[in-house]
Amino acid sequence: MPKKYKLGILPGDGIGKEVVPAAVRVVQAACEGVGGFDIELRGFDCGGEYYLANGEEWSEEAEEYVWNEADAVLLGAIGALDSKGESVKLPDGNLAGYNVVIGLRLRLDLYANVRPVKLYEGVPTPLADKGPDDIDMVIIRENTEGLYTPARGALSRGGLKDLAVDMRVITKKGSERVSRFAFQVAEERNGAPSDGVKRVTCVDKSNLLAGCQLFRESFNRIGEEYPKIEKDYAFVDAWTQWCLKKPEFYDVVVTPNEFGDIITDLGGAVQGGLGVAPAGNIGQKYGVFEPVHGSAPKHAGKGAANPIAATLAGSMLLEWLGKKHNDNKVLKAGGLVKEAVASVLRDGEPRTYDLCLGQWLGITPSSTDKVGDAIAERARSLASEG
Ligand code: IPM
Ligand code: MN
Repeated sequence: MPKKYKLGILPGDGIGKEVVPAAVRVVQAACEGVGGFDIELRGFDCGGEYYLANGEEWSEEAEEYVWNEADAVLLGAIGALDSKGESVKLPDGNLAGYNVVIGLRLRLDLYANVRPVKLYEGVPTPLADKGPDDIDMVIIRENTEGLYTPARGALSRGGLKDLAVDMRVITKKGSERVSRFAFQVAEERNGAPSDGVKRVTCVDKSNLLAGCQLFRESFNRIGEEYPKIEKDYAFVDAWTQWCLKKPEFYDVVVTPNEFGDIITDLGGAVQGGLGVAPAGNIGQKYGVFEPVHGSAPKHAGKGAANPIAATLAGSMLLEWLGKKHNDNKVLKAGGLVKEAVASVLRDGEPRTYDLCLGQWLGITPSSTDKVGDAIAERARSLASEG
């Protein structure tokens, strides 16, 4: 009996519902192309739109499958608008879908949010004079604490909201384990594009904040276990300009949660836009993979969104699963998804509207489905070539 892996598919809100089905078709094509194992896919509606319709963020069945059965999860995006155009909230003030996107990170203890920033050939970057040889780093965002710690609230007096507090929590445990994760990622990579040096940059605000001082001390302690990897430091404000001026210097970056949220959108832009930026929420046992982009309500319903971020998240899912289960076939399928994306991007066409810039300005934009299907087809033909 071939091994079977169970994948939970949670398209979520907005363009998540468009890009995830396209990404899933690519994942299926790659898995069938490689062969020798099975995947079982189960999709569930969830998020803000589901909450508006059902009064809960997902069904019990979905929750149960994701927590107790799935080997890995592919998530689209979370965040819906109500009829007034306002963000849909839960009674506790959190965004509707919070328990899916942030709840999963906490409940499954997905402490490392891995966000590769890689410029593929055929993708326009807004950075003048930088190309695919300059932009290839991985940002590791701490994913379970920092400003995202659920220690927040507002003080209302006489029905008037007057004060709000968000507590930022940084622990030795959280900082050490995410630092170790970053050094391990650096060990497996080929170093920074500029000089081939394996380097981990700790991006923090330790000139001011106590939590960041603890984060950096933890980083240094763990770094001692990796004497062959260069330790590098930057304050987060300064790092944002260096990321634009000398992206080629960066190999692996590790940073607290809220800084990671912000600088990975910057990273997304550097690699050609959020349409091509994938992420993996990874813990000791579980993995949830998603595009860095959100539900983009403005763009939803047009079938125009770029499926590549979600597709590359699918590739990360397969590579993580293959590594975890020591299954080279699954690992190969993950590599095949990435290769198929790279190959279609190199061709120039088809591409979605967000990539029709620079030297690709004259190209007529294609739909989400057309791009997804072209990548799936490419995965099939690459697989048959062996
Ligand atoms: C992300 C998103 C989420 C975050 C939102 C949807 C809560 O922006 O994954 O980067 O802030 O972490
Ligand atoms: Mn974000």
